[in-house]
Amino acid sequence: MNLESCQPVGIFDSGVGGLTVASAIRSLLPNERMIYFGDTAHLPYGDKSAASIRHYSKEITGFLLEQHCKVVLVACNTASAAAFDDLQREYGEHILLMNVIDPVVSRITSSGVTGKVGVIGTKGTIHSGTYEKKLRALQPGMEIVSLPTPLLVPMIEEGFVYDDISNAIIRAYLSSEKLKDISTLILGCTHYPIIKNQIRKYYDFRVDIIDSAQIVAQELKEVLSREGLLASDKKGEHQFFVSDHTDYFGKVARMFFDEDIFLELKDLWR
Ligand code: DGL
Repeated sequence: MNLESCQPVGIFDSGVGGLTVASAIRSLLPNERMIYFGDTAHLPYGDKSAASIRHYSKEITGFLLEQHCKVVLVACNTASAAAFDDLQREYGEHILLMNVIDPVVSRITSSGVTGKVGVIGTKGTIHSGTYEKKLRALQPGMEIVSLPTPLLVPMIEEGFVYDDISNAIIRAYLSSEKLKDISTLILGCTHYPIIKNQIRKYYDFRVDIIDSAQIVAQELKEVLSREGLLASDKKGEHQFFVSDHTDYFGKVARMFFDEDIFLELKDLWR
């Protein structure tokens, strides 16, 4: 691998939700230039087969490699669960690869979390059992429960946050018997950091809420500094590509990135 610190950081997600991770990276690593790819033509990944997600993820990683990224971060929990091992096999010798699950797993297992741990995410992420497998591999006795919460993504995208409707949906999911008496809840989906404080409030601030965006940004900083690849100054602007474009995506992107961004259409499949 012959990588240089001035190369951009590649990030991809099924859509614009991964911008929560990009936003945390912008705050922590302001010198890094990001190239973001949102696969809006195929979203949501949460309901797709693992085979389709692997296919899309490989194309996107190939594209980010062509853009000379030094690292590709899979900023989507569903793709991290379904495709990361394949990406590692195919591209691991050319580029640094990261996902959004491993940094959370190592943070939790190294921070001595005790008690029952809950995970919420898309159907794809939860049914893959990836969080459980990885957490148990590092801490075999850990009690872990997981629950798919598929309505939360469209709920957030439609702007139903911090209101009565979202409170009711959050309550309907989190009051599940499965999640009873958890000490920690992993937000295993790109969109959920948007409602982190609402979830905290639901639990009366008694449950530790793990927001992967912050943890992943921190891990990226550690990886780049370990490899001597931290950018010393920012060269050029971030770029944001999407595989399908509508005004709606622009609106949602603003909510996730907290700034107006230009979404460039790049259909890798046409
Ligand atoms: N980005 C996805 C994730 O983090 C959520 C949206 C989708 O289902 O595509 O799992």
